[in-house]
Amino acid sequence: MLLSQLVVVGLAAFASAARAPARHVVHESRRSLPTGWSPVRRAEPDTILPLSIGLVQSNLENLDAYLMDVAHPDSPNYSKHWTPAEVAKTFRPSLKSVDAVRTWLVEDGWINAERIVVSKTGGWVMANVTVEEAEHLLGTEYYVYEHAEDGKQHLACHGGYHLPEHVSKHVDLITPTLHFDVKIRRHGSVADTKIGKQLGSVGFGAAPKMGGPVHSIFTNLEHCDEVITLACLRALYDFEYTPLAPKKNTIGVVEYTPQSHVPSDFDVFFGNYSKSQVGERPTLISIDGGSLVTGGAIGESSLDLQYVMGLVGKKQEVLLYQVGDAIVGGSFNNLLDALDGSFCTFEGGDDSIADSSYPDNQPGGYKGAEDCGDKKTAFVISTSYGYQEADLTPAYMQRQCAEYGKLSLTGMTFVYSSGDDGVSGFDNLCLDDEGNQIPGTSGTRFNPTFPGGCPYVTSVGATQVVPGNKVTDPESAVFQRFPSGGGFSNVFPRADFQKDAVANYLEKFPPGYAPELFNASGRGFPDVSANGLNYSIAAHGALSLISGTSASAPTVASILSAINDARLAIGKTSIGWVNPALYSSTFTGAFHDIINGTNPGCGTQGFAARPGWDPVTGLGTLNFKALLRRFLELP
Ligand SMILES: *[C@@H]1O[C@H](CO)[C@@H](O)[C@H](O)[C@H]1NC(C)=O
Ligand SMILES: *[C@@H]1O[C@H](CO)[C@@H](O)[C@H](O)[C@H]1NC(C)=O
Ligand SMILES: *[C@@H]1O[C@H](CO)[C@@H](O)[C@H](O)[C@H]1NC(C)=O
Ligand SMILES: *[C@@H]1O[C@H](CO)[C@@H](O)[C@H](O)[C@H]1NC(C)=O
Ligand SMILES: *[C@@H]1O[C@H](CO)[C@@H](O)[C@H](O)[C@H]1NC(C)=O
Ligand SMILES: *[C@@H]1O[C@H](CO)[C@@H](O)[C@H](O)[C@H]1NC(C)=O
Repeated sequence: MLLSQLVVVGLAAFASAARAPARHVVHESRRSLPTGWSPVRRAEPDTILPLSIGLVQSNLENLDAYLMDVAHPDSPNYSKHWTPAEVAKTFRPSLKSVDAVRTWLVEDGWINAERIVVSKTGGWVMANVTVEEAEHLLGTEYYVYEHAEDGKQHLACHGGYHLPEHVSKHVDLITPTLHFDVKIRRHGSVADTKIGKQLGSVGFGAAPKMGGPVHSIFTNLEHCDEVITLACLRALYDFEYTPLAPKKNTIGVVEYTPQSHVPSDFDVFFGNYSKSQVGERPTLISIDGGSLVTGGAIGESSLDLQYVMGLVGKKQEVLLYQVGDAIVGGSFNNLLDALDGSFCTFEGGDDSIADSSYPDNQPGGYKGAEDCGDKKTAFVISTSYGYQEADLTPAYMQRQCAEYGKLSLTGMTFVYSSGDDGVSGFDNLCLDDEGNQIPGTSGTRFNPTFPGGCPYVTSVGATQVVPGNKVTDPESAVFQRFPSGGGFSNVFPRADFQKDAVANYLEKFPPGYAPELFNASGRGFPDVSANGLNYSIAAHGALSLISGTSASAPTVASILSAINDARLAIGKTSIGWVNPALYSSTFTGAFHDIINGTNPGCGTQGFAARPGWDPVTGLGTLNFKALLRRFLELP
């Protein structure tokens, strides 16, 4: 009730305030609020906002074609990656966009020119404005919102904001407007054992499911249906490899503080599973004050790092991108800012609302400046955290997704877990027909994860060894403990590289749901999968079990990194964006196709794993030897 009244009031106020004849259009809107937030009052008109206007990047409409040119195996330019300087130059916003925005801000006399600043990279125009000025400029109303869980307050505009049509086409997004700090959504620990409680949950995103302690240590392959070890994964994916060019190769794992690890746990893990690596540690790359915190949750970091280090093997350095301080934490944009200066919001800053802002002046906060383009990149970056698309706005997701694409042009590969809730979202939330996230036990629309739907990341689902089966038997989509995240994006359209694969699935194995349950025209995910059940990790000195697509992503990232090593050793480039190659006919037969299991959610059985690509396990699990041979044959 309240919300629909607000819309009407907002628009009426805008109509009477608009003097200029320019036609205004809705620039961005959100149909629903992120879970937990509700408006408590109008914002005071004299509150100051750091209004930041992100300009559209040049040539973004060609990004997909540029990427296909260097990443499709049939392209004569395969592997001819770009330099970071070429990327920055090609996508830099045009001066025309800067002028259009500046002119709009000054033309009716509300903001004078001295108040306007343009960022060094030319991507952002900024001015400190009052709420009253922002409401006038954007044809909207600002409200103070409060979060039900912790009473945290947040200023945002309601419903949507408007721009003159001729300005709108130069603008990507404006903050602070509709963007909410969604990392506030902590997904309570799903653990029920003592060990699980100690390990805790992930800061935000896919929380790995904790099992009990491992009672006996298996070093052979007899028990891979009960406990997954490095040896099981090597057997499952034919993955025996010794690095040849570790000095040239790079791989990184991202962790978001307060998620952390205990360094001595590496020795317990390696002592049991990879003796020659005892003493090895990851190389810390601290982003926005990221450091190892004590007393934080350690399940996710221990899992990701122990398995990547164990799988890529002795000799290969593994980078740990630890993002954010222990108080406000960080999100994907904090990482991207640190890797690419041209992505930073404003003079080395982040989006002040959707992402964590530094310096953090709270006690114990990181007082340094935000990292901006000053951190080393890695060829493969593995991330086991995620959002739901419904948590974020399309413009925010599209901008971030394009950034994965731009970085991939330089030869990087982004690997993400696909989520642990089947076709529903965290906490079994599904979407109502307005796009709100609501409990989905009795059935509503599927709730896709982000960034699984971004075509420029490789999304990884989970499989398992069926109880009683051997490591040589075909795996199933995971069905114990959690269902593999998968489905179709509501934001990103079906990607070109997957057109045939997805059409094949929908035609041959139509899921039979009402068309509104999922967006059949959206990008289908995951792309591939890997075992995600009962990984044995060391945590707080003991071995315990952990499950989730959180485990699957590091496994896939490690295998792709070994392929990079083999190519670099013979003078070739990294593999970069792998999706067009994986779906191409060149790579037919390089996967173990998974044809059993489903990913239930929202009161349904979800989708079913079937021959070929499916929205549960993607193309299947990796066959390292077969992939390596094909990638080595490519230029
Ligand atoms: C390959 O790269 C060259 C040189 O950068 C470019 O002119 C050409 O358009 C690219 N694509 C193809 C398909 O040749
Ligand atoms: C906006 O205000 C802040 C805080 O006073 C200041 O640091 C910043 O430089 C100002 N930005 C602009 C564009 O004037
Ligand atoms: C592996 O996971 C399943 C499902 O949670 C569980 O029933 C089984 O006991 C686990 N295996 C071991 C050895 O704990
Ligand atoms: C193996 O793990 C156990 C914890 O379960 C630990 O006490 C032991 O020291 C480890 N073994 C080695 C050789 O490190
Ligand atoms: C389906 O996906 C497309 C992008 O391919 C998007 O434009 C559309 O809004 C989505 N439909 C729904 C109902 O979310
Ligand atoms: C197929 O998956 C179901 C769970 O969905 C499981 O009960 C069954 O054992 C699996 N069968 C095979 C052959 O993998």
